[in-house]
Amino acid sequence: MRAGHRGTGPGAITPDGCAVELYSRLPVGAEPEIIAGAVPTGAHILELGSGVGRMTHPLLERGFTVTAVDESAEMLEHVRGARTIRGPIEDLDLGETFDVVLLASFLVHNADLEVRRGMLRACARHVAEGGCVLIQREGGGYHGDLPRERTGRGDSGEFTVRIVSSEPVAEGVHSVHAEYEFPDATWTQTFRSRPLTREQFEEALREAGLRVDRYLTEDRTWVRAVPVTG
Ligand SMILES: C[S@@+](CC[C@H](N)C(=O)[O-])C[C@H]1O[C@@H](n2cnc3c(N)ncnc32)[C@H](O)[C@@H]1O
Repeated sequence: MRAGHRGTGPGAITPDGCAVELYSRLPVGAEPEIIAGAVPTGAHILELGSGVGRMTHPLLERGFTVTAVDESAEMLEHVRGARTIRGPIEDLDLGETFDVVLLASFLVHNADLEVRRGMLRACARHVAEGGCVLIQREGGGYHGDLPRERTGRGDSGEFTVRIVSSEPVAEGVHSVHAEYEFPDATWTQTFRSRPLTREQFEEALREAGLRVDRYLTEDRTWVRAVPVTG
């Protein structure tokens, strides 16, 4: 388990506290649409932290080619129709480049600065000339106004996602506790997050040789970044 991360509930739990069965139940949201709107048709996408393929499968259906990376073999077992690579994102060095590198699910908020730097460098290392890196970051109010919950409906019925608490545990680092309730099962995840202001986020990109090309959504949670050239 990664330091400060924990998960409870049925089935396998990844080192960052995610439950494999939970992610195979959660429906995908607007992510594939946002991604498809920002990249060329038929692009080859390197998806970092793919999990069970919640986004991978809709992206494949839209005609993209996907290479899915995750450190959890149990997550990758559920991915169909994509090449899969198991390992830590921060160490990834495939010796090839992709039209698009995708770092979603707030992974850029990793609390460990070396891991975060490693992830962003991995993004920069794998993006082809003329390509882009798509990043999903937390919204401004992510750590405030808690508890906060939303309900949804998946194949296994209605569910509630509740962000219960977010407590500072070290300089610049919060411990977040989330609950996921389904009619027949409950999962929890406790994880560490390093909130980033827009300036801090853009500085983190710069350190890795990337810059913001444009923010893709009004809330600035989705970002299209490109390598700094020259
Ligand atoms: C919150 S889940 C999201 C999965 C998927 N992106 C989705 O939206 O359904 C995060 C995934 O990233 C993986 N992950 C987290 N940190 C990682 C790291 N440093 N290297 C490789 N995989 C990582 C976890 O194993 C997990 O499958």
